[in-house]
Amino acid sequence: MSMTMSHAPAHERSGIFHARALVNRGPEGLGNDRRHLLGLEYLDRAEILALLDDAEYDLAKLQRDRIPSHELAGVTILLAFFEDSTRTRIAFELAGRRLGAVVVSVTSGGLSLSKGESLVDTLRIFEKNGTDLVVVRHASSGVPEFLARHVGMGIVNAGDGTHEHPTQGLVDLMTLRQVWRGHFENRRIAIVGDIAHSRVARSAIAGLNKLGVKVTVAGPATLIPVGVEALGCTLAATADEALAGADAVMALRIQRERMERGLLPSFSEYAKSWGIDARRVALMKPDAVVMHPGPVNRGLELAVDVVDGPRSVVLKQVENGMGVRSAVLRRSARAIRERA
Ligand code: NCD
Repeated sequence: MSMTMSHAPAHERSGIFHARALVNRGPEGLGNDRRHLLGLEYLDRAEILALLDDAEYDLAKLQRDRIPSHELAGVTILLAFFEDSTRTRIAFELAGRRLGAVVVSVTSGGLSLSKGESLVDTLRIFEKNGTDLVVVRHASSGVPEFLARHVGMGIVNAGDGTHEHPTQGLVDLMTLRQVWRGHFENRRIAIVGDIAHSRVARSAIAGLNKLGVKVTVAGPATLIPVGVEALGCTLAATADEALAGADAVMALRIQRERMERGLLPSFSEYAKSWGIDARRVALMKPDAVVMHPGPVNRGLELAVDVVDGPRSVVLKQVENGMGVRSAVLRRSARAIRERA
């Protein structure tokens, strides 16, 4: 092991440094190219609000009309999910089909990637075969940005490592705008749990900051990145402190697949210290809501009666997912057409 490795702080060794570096650097110019959606970090307030308006419109339309529209007729979308997903992939697939696009789906298993072909070379095959837009999920932070630089197709980030998950961030903002009746001012949200490995938290914090919502984070010390305040939040020492007087809480899934061993000694201890149960819900404002991006580990991040309880908006978040993905696909497709 090299000197730099052994002396690197824990958050650098676990790859979180890489994600932070990406956030701070920003993609030169790429963030302004509307063919892509790489992160909420790169959108301004007006663009976010416009996407939320479009998502509301699309959701209402999708719920009303079961027949696909022709808005994206002639557009080919590739869903390239190199990590598991239920909600995000299904919402993109259904939204794309309902807008009249051709939607094809691949995972890493069935591709020549397993024969050693690079990701860029693989995606160039799809580009040559007429694909316009790639929705990509990948375990490595920065893959969508890298692809946006090296292929000619539009790139939508469906979650990259510990970096960003912009469409989930938009889902969270859309849900909060509904429950807060359009007003983000003077609101505060607590985000509790595995902040270190959470692309959901990074996108949410970026978006919430732009809309003027205060963010307090809390979680086990081993799952809070060093210097987390730089993301635009304050740090609370306990879950109770974070939730006291909050307007919403977002619990995050424990990202076991991204964790080094030993970051979390005991799940029952976690549930006791950081799990959101009825007592903790009662510490928030009377009309405060409980969010979770899913998938939920019931009894761990959220108590079972809280997941299914009256303050939970977990299923509302799922429902909003299709509206957001529809609006995002249309935004990219429009920019691609404008260029052509
Ligand atoms: C999230 C993800 O994959 O980043 N899930 C999702 O998109 N609904 C959150 C998670 O996996 O914990």
